[in-house]
Amino acid sequence: MSSESVSPAHRVRPLLRVRQVREFTDEPLDADALDAITDAARWSGSSRNNQPWRFVIIRDVKTLRRVAEAGQPQTRALETATAAVAIAVIEEKGSAISHAFDEGRAAERMLIAASLLDLGAGIAWVRSEARALVADLLGLPEDRFVRTIIAVGHPTEAAREPKTTRGQARLPRSETVFAERYGGD
Ligand SMILES: Cc1cc2nc3c(=O)[nH]c(=O)nc-3n(C[C@H](O)[C@H](O)[C@H](O)COP(=O)(O)O)c2cc1C
Repeated sequence: MSSESVSPAHRVRPLLRVRQVREFTDEPLDADALDAITDAARWSGSSRNNQPWRFVIIRDVKTLRRVAEAGQPQTRALETATAAVAIAVIEEKGSAISHAFDEGRAAERMLIAASLLDLGAGIAWVRSEARALVADLLGLPEDRFVRTIIAVGHPTEAAREPKTTRGQARLPRSETVFAERYGGD
């Protein structure tokens, strides 16, 4: 079947399947998978191609669990993750919003890459109270901080199940997508 005969909606479906996974089995991850995920991240576009990120791959279970404990409840996906990628962003006066936008793009790409590899991934937001510990555990330089860690692993059966009734996890299209003018259908 040529790609033209498949509907656009069908072709973008893999993106709709990218969801937050917070529970993983203890099956280890291939190093190749983590390399592919971090390559997808580092090839993200960024404002003026600044690439304000560095990516720290974490496979040490002790580190994963320490971060999980320090950042609850946001970091709960790290309780069972077999690996994670911390996004270390540079602190630059006047660039906080731009850097956060770039970081979000890289984070989403990692979720997508994991899903394409039939793995699961989830965002763990590191609250400011937990950032010093994370900086210390990961040996960050003074001018970088970690706000987002992507937990990665093989999802449990339960984590693969839909969390809500089909089609109910987002606001309806009629309330979120408008034609020509806000509210227009
Ligand atoms: C900016 C951002 C921060 C998030 N922070 C966390 C977090 O700290 N911990 C967590 O478990 N999920 C976090 N999430 C995941 C959301 O809770 C999740 O995407 C949302 O509930 C929708 O679920 P779904 O992606 O499975 O459809 C975050 C998502 C975004 C976009």
